[in-house]
Amino acid sequence: MEEKINEFTKKKRGGFSGKLGFVLAAAGSAVGLGNLWRFPYLTAEYGGGIFILTYIILTLFLGISLLMLEIGIGRYTGKSVIGAFGTLNKKFKWFGYLCVIVPLLVVPYYCVIGGWVLKYGVSFVVGSDGLISNSSSFFNNFIGGTAEPLIYFLIFAFITVLIVIFGVQKGIERMSKILMPTLAIIALFLMVYVFCLKGSGKGVKYTLLPDFSKFSFKTVLGALGQMFYSLSIGMCIMITYGSYMKKDVSIKSSAIQIGVCDSLFAIVASLIIIPSVFACAPTTAEAEGMLASPGPGLMFVQLTEVFGTIKGGRVIGTIFFILVFFAAVTSSVSLVESIVAVLCEGDKMKRSSACAIVFSVILTLGALSSLGFGVLDGVSINIAGNSKSILDMFDLLANNILLPIVGIMTCVIVGWFVDKKIIPKEIGIDKNKTLRGFFNVITKYVAPIIILIVLVSGLLDMFGVLKI
Ligand code: PHE
Repeated sequence: MEEKINEFTKKKRGGFSGKLGFVLAAAGSAVGLGNLWRFPYLTAEYGGGIFILTYIILTLFLGISLLMLEIGIGRYTGKSVIGAFGTLNKKFKWFGYLCVIVPLLVVPYYCVIGGWVLKYGVSFVVGSDGLISNSSSFFNNFIGGTAEPLIYFLIFAFITVLIVIFGVQKGIERMSKILMPTLAIIALFLMVYVFCLKGSGKGVKYTLLPDFSKFSFKTVLGALGQMFYSLSIGMCIMITYGSYMKKDVSIKSSAIQIGVCDSLFAIVASLIIIPSVFACAPTTAEAEGMLASPGPGLMFVQLTEVFGTIKGGRVIGTIFFILVFFAAVTSSVSLVESIVAVLCEGDKMKRSSACAIVFSVILTLGALSSLGFGVLDGVSINIAGNSKSILDMFDLLANNILLPIVGIMTCVIVGWFVDKKIIPKEIGIDKNKTLRGFFNVITKYVAPIIILIVLVSGLLDMFGVLKI
């Protein structure tokens, strides 16, 4: 009976045509700015290869289980995030509302940064004045402006919402099937090109060879935080996409493929960025210094300078920003879909009207984030001596506070308040005692405790209480 209900709702809601469509769309969500920009600078900050090794181990043992958990919740309930938690346990319907706030806060500023990427792609094509020769002021002048960043942001948000209007199969799946293979080809091409640059070999070694003396608690914390963000866990996305998945597709192998694909993209991105910086910097210390400047600086300032010095840099810069643009669109689409799915649940609203509502929220909150670097730069808060812009505030609230809370609660609800056979059965591991036991221990104890440590240490670090 229950299966019948699920099949029925799925027919009405639409869904992915098969495994390939689902995996590419979910990998499209996972592969984003986090892989191309955040992962490489964290790799440099936390000592190169040892960070990558830690990241891979955590993804294999924790990340993939959490992916399976979220996809399993989605497919079992066949509902958007609010309906999903309500179905799992009536007492937790309210939690779905909390969950949907996360993508609602993230997508506006994600589109602002997407707009910056678009602007850089265009600037490389037309060869804007000062883009390379004066890269730092070029970037600051651009984001500090009013109309220009707003226009690029608007274009990026419009493209995102337009894809979602076309629906899961005709919009999201079709886009992912085109963009993801293109993304892989561009990334591999850039990596090979960078390998051919003189002096890049040192950077390749730095990226791939783990130096165990650099391993510390901080490496694990950095890798964990990055993993949740990069796999799009705790954002309702995998629950939503899971609800569109066919019953005969294996969740286990899909989750493994998504995790592997995400890690590979992150490593390839590091193998593009780190060696190209090494090829331009005279010494290892200088290369590390350039790489370890977190924030948008690395991608928009330092890397632009690197493109200015390497052979064929303008073409390579253009191709690089096309890569980042594609990766960012497939991620922002998944955020918008998670919100639209909630609004359309049970045919309450037409998809186009839901998209229009989400678009207006994006425009309002995104405009605030964008103007926060210009006319609204007086609006900021000071945390432990660091001034935080409006965009930073949305990011902090969503990624550092709400996302871990949602992660912990998801595990606690499934681990403690839902029949422990339901989700393993949906994932297809119920007959394998070892796997089922492993999965239950991860959901009940390991994951909530680890995420709690990440949450608390992140907050203590941010407020300068404890320097880890
Ligand atoms: N996973 C994306 C990345 O690596 C970030 C993201 C998280 C995007 C959640 C959408 C939703 O960039």
